[in-house]
Amino acid sequence: MPTPARIHVAHALHEVFGEGGRVPDIWDRELGEDAQLAQALLGLCLRRWGRLQAWVKPKLKDPDRGVPLGTRVSLAMGLAQLAWLPGVSDHAAVNESVDLAATRDLGFLPHKGLVNALLRRASKDRAALAAELDALPASLDRSPAVARALGAALAPHGAEGELEALWARLQQPPRPDFRLLEGEIPEGLVPVAGLPGCLCLEEGAPFPRPWLEAGGGMVQDRSSQALLAYQWERPVTRILDACAAPGGKTTTLARRHPGAAITALEVHPKRAARLRQTLEQRGVEARVIQADAAEWLEGNAAVFDLILLDAPCSGSGTLQKHPEWPWLKHDDLPRLTGLQRRLLSAAAERLAPGGLLIYAVCSWLPEEGIAHRDWLVEARPDLHPAEVWPAALGAEVDGRAGLSATFRPDPLRWEGEGFQGFAVRRA
Ligand SMILES: C[S@@+](CC[C@H](N)C(=O)[O-])C[C@H]1O[C@@H](n2cnc3c(N)ncnc32)[C@H](O)[C@@H]1O
Repeated sequence: MPTPARIHVAHALHEVFGEGGRVPDIWDRELGEDAQLAQALLGLCLRRWGRLQAWVKPKLKDPDRGVPLGTRVSLAMGLAQLAWLPGVSDHAAVNESVDLAATRDLGFLPHKGLVNALLRRASKDRAALAAELDALPASLDRSPAVARALGAALAPHGAEGELEALWARLQQPPRPDFRLLEGEIPEGLVPVAGLPGCLCLEEGAPFPRPWLEAGGGMVQDRSSQALLAYQWERPVTRILDACAAPGGKTTTLARRHPGAAITALEVHPKRAARLRQTLEQRGVEARVIQADAAEWLEGNAAVFDLILLDAPCSGSGTLQKHPEWPWLKHDDLPRLTGLQRRLLSAAAERLAPGGLLIYAVCSWLPEEGIAHRDWLVEARPDLHPAEVWPAALGAEVDGRAGLSATFRPDPLRWEGEGFQGFAVRRA
């Protein structure tokens, strides 16, 4: 019987490659000490899926015949352990994968012998296996969706030729960033230059769970922190966070504008409940409303000096953290871009004269970001681009005094998630 860690990994791979579904954030919660092995193995299989399959194909009797997913998963897991996880013994890498091939629902029993033969042969020279796999073209690991997302990330910076460099960076497992909320900086975290309050985990340091649980800080990517380092001098007393859960940005908004009345909307009941709880724990006062933001805004007369619309999106900018992203179905984009426009126009309607609207998505795709800005300012002559982001934070400069009205950090020079934002003010 394969270990629970390997069964979890196999389930996650079936979910991604069989169903086109995401790996849930807490997929390895019950694994305890084995979670690290499971994380590493799943990451390797997802990040190197294309080359793992390409290595196997010519070794099959009939290479053009489709191979059942159970076989592909068992082989990919076995090969990844042999090639890149030196701490796993030959015996464990081979036998556990052979057992997996024989497991109902996860494997494909008739191919147990094939999995055994291929892995046993590969285990004779693990360094040679790693060298063969590493020598295969990196493009094998990129789906058409990812190639498009990377092109979109590089185009605004005139760096389309740097696709391999960007891909190589995004193939590294990410190191999390944190926001200091109170007290001293704990051991193992170091400040990120140019972004006060932003901390990053030192190489090899343990994840600072006790510090997070004690309320000393929160997990927040540096791109989100840079986005909220906008420069805006006008008075802000009424804030709307239109898509607020899990509440990281609501927390930062409350600290940036103490005393302002904050309304935080969230459509999903569970996420709204979690948002309410998190804000309470952090001592953030906000009116949390569980509602579809477009419907709520369309049926409400309230106006705001500052609106943050951190919209639901494809998440293309998070593919370093979510290595399954390249392999998802991505058939949801038209629905998402439609929803983003509906949310934007409803939000713009509720912006007070002189107010600031910030729109953001963790995506590089222009149709989820900059194209909406062009559409919005064309439809609403009372809205004007607002230059609020310092170029030093990684944003491009397109305005006065080194400030920009768009937030599109250069992915080759900025180690945060891929983000796109724009700011408009109402006349
Ligand atoms: C990108 S996340 C927001 C992250 C949050 N701003 C933070 O920094 O912690 C987008 C959120 O919008 C919510 N959402 C999606 N559609 C919505 C809608 N129509 N109205 C309100 N919230 C929505 C999602 O459930 C999700 O929690």
